[in-house]
Amino acid sequence: MKNLNNKNILVGITGSIAAYKAAQLVSSLKNNGANVKVIMTRASTSFITERTLESISNNKVLVDESETEESFLHLEVAKWADIILVAPCTANSLNKITKGLGDDLLSTTCLAFKRKIFIAPAMNPDMWNNTIVQDNLKNISVDKFVIIGPDYGNHACGDVGYGRMSSPDLIIETLSKAMGKGILDGIKILITAGPTREPIDPVRFISNYSSGKMGYAIAEYARDLGGDVRLITGPVKLALPEAIPTKAVETSSEMLDEVLDSVSDCDIFISAAAISDYKPSDTSVEKHKSSDGDLNIKLVRGEDILKTAKLKNKNVFAVGFSAETKNIEENAKAKLVSKKIDMIIANEANHQKGLGFESDYNQIVIINESETTTIPRNSKKELAKIIIHKIVSIYKKNLLKIKNA
Ligand SMILES: Cc1cc2nc3c(=O)[nH]c(=O)nc-3n(C[C@H](O)[C@H](O)[C@H](O)COP(=O)(O)O)c2cc1C
Repeated sequence: MKNLNNKNILVGITGSIAAYKAAQLVSSLKNNGANVKVIMTRASTSFITERTLESISNNKVLVDESETEESFLHLEVAKWADIILVAPCTANSLNKITKGLGDDLLSTTCLAFKRKIFIAPAMNPDMWNNTIVQDNLKNISVDKFVIIGPDYGNHACGDVGYGRMSSPDLIIETLSKAMGKGILDGIKILITAGPTREPIDPVRFISNYSSGKMGYAIAEYARDLGGDVRLITGPVKLALPEAIPTKAVETSSEMLDEVLDSVSDCDIFISAAAISDYKPSDTSVEKHKSSDGDLNIKLVRGEDILKTAKLKNKNVFAVGFSAETKNIEENAKAKLVSKKIDMIIANEANHQKGLGFESDYNQIVIINESETTTIPRNSKKELAKIIIHKIVSIYKKNLLKIKNA
């Protein structure tokens, strides 16, 4: 489920016989890309061990005693979480949490939490059907609580009826639906990132300092917003992004082939790769012998991938990057016009200032035909968010214009 990717989910586990199912639940949430922290009530620790959940969640499990080590822990975790899920939730915790009582770490965290709380009850059918439980449920705020299940079936005590915790799959599907559609849902986005390498001979090449960080950050954020993202990457030292189909290439010709293969099927093309403008006219099959004399290599103009892709696919919203060392805005505007693209993101490439290539930071100017927006120095991850939101707003405005034309 894409919309759980990178979401911070706090799982509260309470003292039910169904607590063992929490291990599978936490594991599935992790597999869906969520960051998971667990709070266990005191009663739950006799049903499943902290160590199990610590290993599966990859985070220290929080219990009532953790609060004394770290003051205001309940406030901190409540701020960290995007979602609180209490599963399994006992009758005791259900009544406590929905009534706003706070006498342990889980219930006080729920009290401090500002968003919706998801509860998957698990209890004996007689407990579930108890009028106190049912009357309480009738009066809870639907803006605050989502009750998932419980299911009908056999119970460990031998009784049959409603009260079984819903399956981890159903719980995860409910969370995912509740997170809503991402703003890029159904939108196909092709992104290129990193440098290209243009071989001189079998051991030498022409390349540049591009790290791929900006393109990767854009791809990951677009994915998190529900985009159908594909990435074409030059050689970089970054880990491949999760849940994004990625094609690795080396040369600008390979990148061109891959882009032309995919771009016609896309809505948005973001060319964040630093493609060599020039490449050797010939690649020597043998290594150039080193000698005392000079070596002349003729460089020829490489393909303009962005321009070619846009020319062949006029309906695709095309975004380019322009790394400049001077006259940044002016040069970028000239490229926007000459390449006939929809948006260009200009940045200063300056090692001394720790900007652009290789750095985790950048400062950019976003330019389209009607607007120029300067974004001061920020991390590439934050800039990726700003860039994507800008692209989406202009892309959607353009779509509206076409529709109304
Ligand atoms: C073997 C056993 C199984 C239990 N299973 C459940 C259960 O499935 N649901 C429930 O509401 N309470 C169940 N309880 C009772 C709770 O553990 C008890 O109410 C406890 O105080 C709940 O605390 P908590 O809500 O803080 O976790 C069970 C108790 C025992 C001894």
